[in-house]
Amino acid sequence: MKRNFTLKNVVTLLFVACSISLFAQKSILGETPQQKQVRMQWFTDAHFGMFIHWGLYALPARHEWVKRYERMTNEQYQTYFDTFDPVNYDPVKWAKTAKAAGMKYMVLTTKHHEGFCLFDSKYTDYKATNTKAKRDLVREYVNACRSQGLKVGFYYSLIDWHHPDFTIDRVHPQEPSSKVAYDSLNRGRDMNRYRTYLRNQVKELLTNYGKIDILWLDFSYPGENGKGRDDWGSVELIKMVRKLQPGIIINNRLDLMDYTDGYDFETPEQVKPEELTKFKGKYWETCQTFSGSWGYYRDENTWKTERQLLDLLITSTANGGNLILNVGPTAKGEFDYRATNALDKFAYWMHANSDAIYSCTYAPDEYALPKGIEARLTYKASAKRLYVHLFDYPTDGKLTLPGYSGKIKYAQFLNDDSELKFQSDKENASDVVLQLPTQKPPYEIPVVELILK
Ligand code: GLC
Repeated sequence: MKRNFTLKNVVTLLFVACSISLFAQKSILGETPQQKQVRMQWFTDAHFGMFIHWGLYALPARHEWVKRYERMTNEQYQTYFDTFDPVNYDPVKWAKTAKAAGMKYMVLTTKHHEGFCLFDSKYTDYKATNTKAKRDLVREYVNACRSQGLKVGFYYSLIDWHHPDFTIDRVHPQEPSSKVAYDSLNRGRDMNRYRTYLRNQVKELLTNYGKIDILWLDFSYPGENGKGRDDWGSVELIKMVRKLQPGIIINNRLDLMDYTDGYDFETPEQVKPEELTKFKGKYWETCQTFSGSWGYYRDENTWKTERQLLDLLITSTANGGNLILNVGPTAKGEFDYRATNALDKFAYWMHANSDAIYSCTYAPDEYALPKGIEARLTYKASAKRLYVHLFDYPTDGKLTLPGYSGKIKYAQFLNDDSELKFQSDKENASDVVLQLPTQKPPYEIPVVELILK
């Protein structure tokens, strides 16, 4: 009997050990989920940030990938470097606009795929200090974020279409049409040297500008004629980043998804709101443009509507994630009128409704969506608040909340704290019916605030 018991124990132990080694992911630093939660807190609460894609591509004004799309050489692209003169660059204005729109953090492209550095790097001449701007534009940006109380983020492109050692691959502007040509084109190019350059520049960015809150490294495309972790030296790079900036939050494009701490959050790019439900329970941030391009694109005219933009923010929050919305400033260094108009709309909505965004997440399952209209729920456990975002406004003045009987203490519109009376549904006592005014409040998506018992 005793022997049997021991044998059983040994088998169980073996099984547990095997499962752990099979399913446990590798870890670089060995942080616990609780420690990560603390580190991620500001990000989890914020829900809304501003992405800024700004570089030489603002001059051609036809996509930040213009060098690749039009297969330009360094010589052809040089004209943008020579012309760059952002006379209206005023990052305090950017930061004030972001703050007014309700954004809590900013992420700026310190270098995009074109290789041009907005910062004063000692490892290259291809930088803002050598243009007519004559100064470190990143430093001014960092100071501006801090002056407005915004968290500071850097985007740094792993890809570099200007560096002489960066090997030509399948996304490079000089991509050849045959395999043989790759070899001859890449003779003399040395990714070891590029890796050192990349590492040195990331080190500069994380050493010379004080505390950096979030880092976006972009991007990996492993496989044939692509690049991934070995090309970037991703494991060593992330170790260095975390050592230099222990609190920093890092995106997931280093090709280290099999490490628990090879990234901090996922980055669904330009996805539809409906697709965001599948990220529930993870750390994530959807990155979105106003119109399609990240860099300033003069002739692109399919801009998202106010409703589509609010939908992205609300639906992100309602699924426990963040929205980082991009502005591509002009070559003069300003937000164009379309971006400014869209951000003004956010400012108006967030002024009245931001309580339904900050520190909120998805509602527990017991709270169902209202009957018969399109809506989303956000929830703030600490304040015992449930927010109903009315994507449709009931024409009969009634909002039926199924199964809410006995759960609500008080109800009001969030935008003006005006009371909304409610009672149990006469036909179905477990439902609650809220009485809404026939006139919709002056917000694209009004919010009902329920104070829970
Ligand atoms: C992609 C694009 C890039 C943009 C980024 C933002 O990786 O290459 O232009 O910066 O997405 O998510």
